[in-house]
Amino acid sequence: MNILAFESSCDETAASVVSVEDGAFEIKSNIVASQIETHRLYGGVVPEIASRAHTEAISRITYEALGEAGLSLSQVDLVAVTSNPGLIGALLVGVSFAKGIAASNNIPLVAVDHIKGHVAASYLGIGAEPPKPPFLALTVSGGHTAIYLVEDYTDYKMIGTTRDDAIGEAFDKIGRVIGIPYPAGRGFDELSREGFITAVGSEENFYSLYKKSDDYKDKELALPSPAISDDSLDFSFSGLKTAAINLLHKYEQSGREIPRARFAARYTYEAVEAVAKKISLALTKYPGYDLVLAGGVAANSHLRARLYEVCSAHAVRLITPPVSLCGDNAAMIAAAGYYEYMSGRRADSTLNASALDSIK
Ligand code: KG4
Ligand code: ZN
Repeated sequence: MNILAFESSCDETAASVVSVEDGAFEIKSNIVASQIETHRLYGGVVPEIASRAHTEAISRITYEALGEAGLSLSQVDLVAVTSNPGLIGALLVGVSFAKGIAASNNIPLVAVDHIKGHVAASYLGIGAEPPKPPFLALTVSGGHTAIYLVEDYTDYKMIGTTRDDAIGEAFDKIGRVIGIPYPAGRGFDELSREGFITAVGSEENFYSLYKKSDDYKDKELALPSPAISDDSLDFSFSGLKTAAINLLHKYEQSGREIPRARFAARYTYEAVEAVAKKISLALTKYPGYDLVLAGGVAANSHLRARLYEVCSAHAVRLITPPVSLCGDNAAMIAAAGYYEYMSGRRADSTLNASALDSIK
């Protein structure tokens, strides 16, 4: 079957054609029209501008996605669209467009939760064998940091979440203060790498050697661990973020230059260790469950490497999509949409977008 999928929850307008045969997926096209350059001017996403840009792009990228796949609408068997969570005006563009295409061409429609979409990027089976439920999923993005128990391809139970900021949001905010253009995640990743290498004097194993380095002992760069020290699987990043801003202020007030790379490494280390600690706890509570790592921040090289270590210590697999499928895209929405369809769920012209999370 051929699936045409749409994603417009934040600052990327995306359309993709994915075909499925005997449960195996093939990405025929995966078009992402990024608005990042437009929002960069403001240091973050401006919702109204996002909605307009989605409206301008969606029709063009749909033709592009179909063209690249070599298909016409009459050969599409299913339309899938992100319906929540996200920016309401942005989501409405994709939902309205998908409803129109489905209704006017008599194609079944399914609604997809954006978070389930991120996890479903691993169902596409690129670079790693897809996970088989039940498994655990960690979604780390601009708006989410949560652990889910995935009981079936479409049935998720949230077992831990952030009590305040999302990890990506914190990377973006701190990154902005140290002059990394929006969205700061990728630049932060590279700068931290530089800082780790400087601290340990080696391009290999720099993350695991870091704790023994003089930089880690340097009180001027000290940041608190954001790991919540209880038995929950919850996260909190606002304390680390505030401490980081205070540290940067101190440098500024005393007229000293901020050691950006060394600071970024220290910040990344604390953020990643906090995640590693809770994932280790989750894997202890759910022994034998594989872990899917998904969402924009899953592209972080330090987080990926550290979680590989944690998973192998627990003798389970870490399954994570290639970096190119970690950020928002519509191929992942097609994969999630397929399982929604297989479970018998259908949307119709009453489908509405929602800014809210639907997974409890
Ligand atoms: O999933 P996503 O594309 O959009 C949301 O659903 O939020 O995630 C975007 C987030 C941004 O905060 C961005 O800075 C972060 O993913 N990000 C990264 C990296 N690449 C993207 N964060 C850390 N390291 C990266 N390499
Ligand atoms: Zn996302």
